[in-house]
Amino acid sequence: MTVEQAGRRGPVVHVDPVDAELELEPDETIIEAAWRLGYHWPTTCHGQATCTVCHVEVLSGAEHLVPPDDEERDALETRLPGAQRRDLTRIRLACRARATGDAVVRKKGVRPTQTVPIPPTGPL
Ligand code: FES
Repeated sequence: MTVEQAGRRGPVVHVDPVDAELELEPDETIIEAAWRLGYHWPTTCHGQATCTVCHVEVLSGAEHLVPPDDEERDALETRLPGAQRRDLTRIRLACRARATGDAVVRKKGVRPTQTVPIPPTGPL
């Protein structure tokens, strides 16, 4: 069921290229919503703001994300590979970013963890 079919309540973060729509609960981060909704999200610290592996590129709606706190800013500036060459105003940690409105982000490696049965294709 899509977010539109279910009736929306909270902000939705659309994740490319997996084409996932994550409706965030109040005070929930992007990665927490992804985990709750059954998605694998790349990480090695599992939400501790230390690995930066969870980072996303914000494609639109950056103004709808709660501004980064000191912990997130420090992690991005000091631990994100190639941080000096990147536009950090468009990069957020999924384990820290919360939304107040809709946004679109890009994150490779996000995928559903639940398997979907494949219907038979012909007579048995
Ligand atoms: S999960 Fe490691 S920094 Fe976000």
